[in-house]
Amino acid sequence: MLEAENLSKKFGKELAVEDLSLEIKKGETVGLLGPNGAGKTTTMQMLSGLLKPDSGTVKVDNGNVKDIVSVVFQEVDYSSKLKVEEFLRMMAVLNENTEMLERVIRRVGLEDYRETLVPDLSGGNKKKVNIASGLLKNPEYLLLDEPTSGLDPRARKDVRDMIEVFTDDIGILVTTHSMEEAEKLCDRVIIIEDGAEVVSGSPDALISSIDAEFILKAEGDIPNGFKDRGVESSGFFEIRTDKPHILIRELVESGAIDSLENLSIEKPGLEDVFFEVTGRRYEEDN
Ligand SMILES: Nc1ncnc2c1ncn2[C@@H]1O[C@H](COP(=O)(O)OP(=O)(O)OP(=O)(O)O)[C@@H](O)[C@H]1O
Ligand SMILES: [Mg+2]
Repeated sequence: MLEAENLSKKFGKELAVEDLSLEIKKGETVGLLGPNGAGKTTTMQMLSGLLKPDSGTVKVDNGNVKDIVSVVFQEVDYSSKLKVEEFLRMMAVLNENTEMLERVIRRVGLEDYRETLVPDLSGGNKKKVNIASGLLKNPEYLLLDEPTSGLDPRARKDVRDMIEVFTDDIGILVTTHSMEEAEKLCDRVIIIEDGAEVVSGSPDALISSIDAEFILKAEGDIPNGFKDRGVESSGFFEIRTDKPHILIRELVESGAIDSLENLSIEKPGLEDVFFEVTGRRYEEDN
């Protein structure tokens, strides 16, 4: 188990991480979620031993954090003049993990780029190389900072597959801005804001804490006659319901529907959990 207790970190006067505790078991994928500046990258830096916390501890069951935790950061900076296959082969050899090399290259969709120089790759493919090299390090714990941001939908899926396929017995901590992705990928999520935990648990448990089958969302003010059934927040409102067809009929019959923009009816998700706990909408950046 990788275990962090009461981590805090200040940069100047700013508290980037505040009294954050978390644990990652082997075989488990944990999502660290939160808006820009919430403290996700700082947390990963401390978990990997690259940044010393002001207070709190990071420990692993056996051995040294630096030896068994590998981290793949969100910014990719490759000056390596090697070709993709050469580079990954080097990583595999250094880590005595050559049997995984072919599978990783194929699974992540880099087959067509074996002979391309790493610096000549597109940003998305550089990112794949980065994640592949993190996996080839054979870590017991792998920290992935926004592995899918900036990728097209197909590449996101490749990366998600790679995370699912190669990480049966390693512990993963992954950050993403996509709550939907976290629902798919993670056994547990920890949502943080301003450096501190807001809520944590399995996506299913968190989502089922919302006591409605559906949520109707729309832009604008909540119509008269519906005010006691919904909540408003910065130009949007939502009404929870188990019977959306009846709610729609009421909105039509009262004429309220005419003034609503961007109406949607959705099953509750982690974004709604964030809204429930913080009172603010979680705007995805991608
Ligand atoms: N080296 C640093 N020096 C000063 N402030 C920093 C430094 N690193 C992070 N911060 C600040 O700490 C806070 C947390 O930053 P961090 O990068 O951990 O957030 P994040 O959750 O990873 O955000 P993003 O989603 O944008 O990647 C921010 O307010 C940031 O400006
Ligand atoms: Mg970050």
